[in-house]
Formats: sequence, structure tokens, C-alpha cells
Amino acid sequence: MQTENRNQRIAVTAATGRVGSPLVEILEQRGHEVVPIARSRGVDVVSGEGLAEALAGVETIIDTATGPSPDQEEATAFFVASARNLQRAGADAGAGRIVVVSIIGIDKFKGGYNAAKVAQEQTLLEGPLPVRIVRAAQFHEFVDQLVGWMIRDGVAYLPEMRTQLVAARVVAEALADAAEEPEIENGRITEVAGPQEERLAGAAAALFASRGDLFEIREGRQPGDPDGTAYAEGAALPNPGAKLAGPSFGEWLRAA
Ligand SMILES: NC(=O)c1ccc[n+]([C@@H]2O[C@H](COP(=O)([O-])OP(=O)(O)OC[C@H]3O[C@@H](n4cnc5c(N)ncnc54)[C@H](OP(=O)(O)O)[C@@H]3O)[C@@H](O)[C@H]2O)c1
Repeated sequence: MQTENRNQRIAVTAATGRVGSPLVEILEQRGHEVVPIARSRGVDVVSGEGLAEALAGVETIIDTATGPSPDQEEATAFFVASARNLQRAGADAGAGRIVVVSIIGIDKFKGGYNAAKVAQEQTLLEGPLPVRIVRAAQFHEFVDQLVGWMIRDGVAYLPEMRTQLVAARVVAEALADAAEEPEIENGRITEVAGPQEERLAGAAAALFASRGDLFEIREGRQPGDPDGTAYAEGAALPNPGAKLAGPSFGEWLRAA
């Protein structure tokens, strides 16, 4: 389906989220009409409530929704249901394509939230609408929550995670660019990441220092983590050809 770069009607799921919020702003600045989707806007991508009405007249759906849990089973249930609903309701509404935000390296990990994202990509690709995938590195805005999950009794137990942290706004720009591509090549994957490799432990140390937090950091392979080696070997790092853009985590932190 041929699309115009201007004046598309674009639905954004998780329009209130870390990447969804700047995405809505960017799309509106570029002249698109945005339909925001979130439970707080009366539309639920898992139950399907309000979805048919929200997608009426929409040309492109950008899917940035996620559930609250990093647990593999819960996240998989969320993504499989949302992917099926978006494909079905999107096709019924006459939409032309879906752009989805995913995560760099997900297919190199054995389980957890990464496996749920693989299930999301696959389920979307089984549907009638062509799907364009933008895989992103971990967001600067997510470090606080990610590290918070791993703090026990004043100690942050962090994996040896090599990542190229990126600002959510940079990811939002890449998603907006993908939505404006004249033709969608079904299943095409591109990557977006920050300007330099970082370690999660280094980012956590900078975050704690900026807030005066006194948590001790212990970096190392966590017992029973099937993906510890993959993270340490750089499976979450971007591949050649990825779009890289600043700010770095430190620059972002200082500006915030
Ligand atoms: N965070 C990262 O570092 C990172 C890195 C790479 C890729 N990603 C991917 O980027 C996407 C967005 O992540 P994020 O961190 O920006 O998310 P987030 O800030 O946690 O936002 C979650 C959003 O999902 C919406 N939502 C939750 N359940 C919903 C439902 N049933 N129906 C409709 N909307 C629902 C929430 O709004 P309501 O509560 O109002 O429904 C909220 O807007 C995810 O797919 C994630 O896998 C994230």
C-alpha cells in the first residue's frame, strides 16, 4: 500500500508510555493525525475494548504497548493477545500496516521478557497486515525501573550487561520514520541504539550518584540466569547498520 509522508492517520498504542509519549509529539509535529491508544484513553489492546472504534480510518498502527510484568509467561500472554487483536481489528478497519517497537538481540536469549518479545514479533507476522519491526536498545528512561527490580536489602545485584542505552525520544523518531516509509517490506527489521556501549552497572552507578542513593552495586552472573553469558558477551548490542544517536546515558542524566 502506498502511503503519503504527510497527513496519515496513525494510531499509537501505549500513547502515554516512555516511548509512546514522545512519539505522539513527534508525529503531530510532522503533521500526522494521531489516535492515542491506552487503557487510560478507554482502549485496551488485550481485551480489545474500544479498539475497533479507535482504528476506524487509521492507515498505520504503531504498537508500543507493553504490560507491567517482565515475567515471561505474563508478558507473552499480553503480547500474543495484543498482536492478534491489533492485526484483526486493524485489518477489519482497513489499516495498511503495523510498525512495532521491539528489542535488539531478543532472539539470542533463552527466556524472560526477550522471549515474550519474540512471540510478539512472530504473532504479528502471522497476521494479514505487513509488519515493520524497529528493534531498540534499552531506554535511558528504563534504567531506574530495570535496576529497581534487582535491588534487595540495599544491594543492586546486576548482570554483566553490555548495552548501548538510548533515549526514548531517539527511538520514537525511528518509529515515526518507519511509519513514513512509502512501502513496508513485511518483516523488515532495523535497529536503533545510543551513541556508545555502556554497562548496566555503570549506568546504575551514575544514576545512584545523581540522586545520592547509597545502594551497593554487585555486578556478576546471577545464579540460574540462563542469559547471563549472552548479556556479558554483548548479545544486546546493536548490529552493523543500526541507527545510533545521542545523548549518551551520562549526557541524558545531566540534562534531566
Ligand atoms: N523500556 C525499554 O528500555 C525498552 C527497550 C526496547 C524496547 N522496548 C519496548 O518498547 C515498548 C514500550 O515500552 P515502554 O517502556 O515505553 O512502556 P511503558 O512506559 O511501560 O508504557 C506502557 C504503556 O502501555 C500501555 N498499556 C498497558 N497495558 C495496556 C493495554 N492492555 N491496552 C492498551 N495500552 C496498554 C500503558 O498505558 P495505560 O496504563 O494507560 O494502559 C502505557 O502507555 C514495549 O513494547 C517494550 O518492549 C522497551
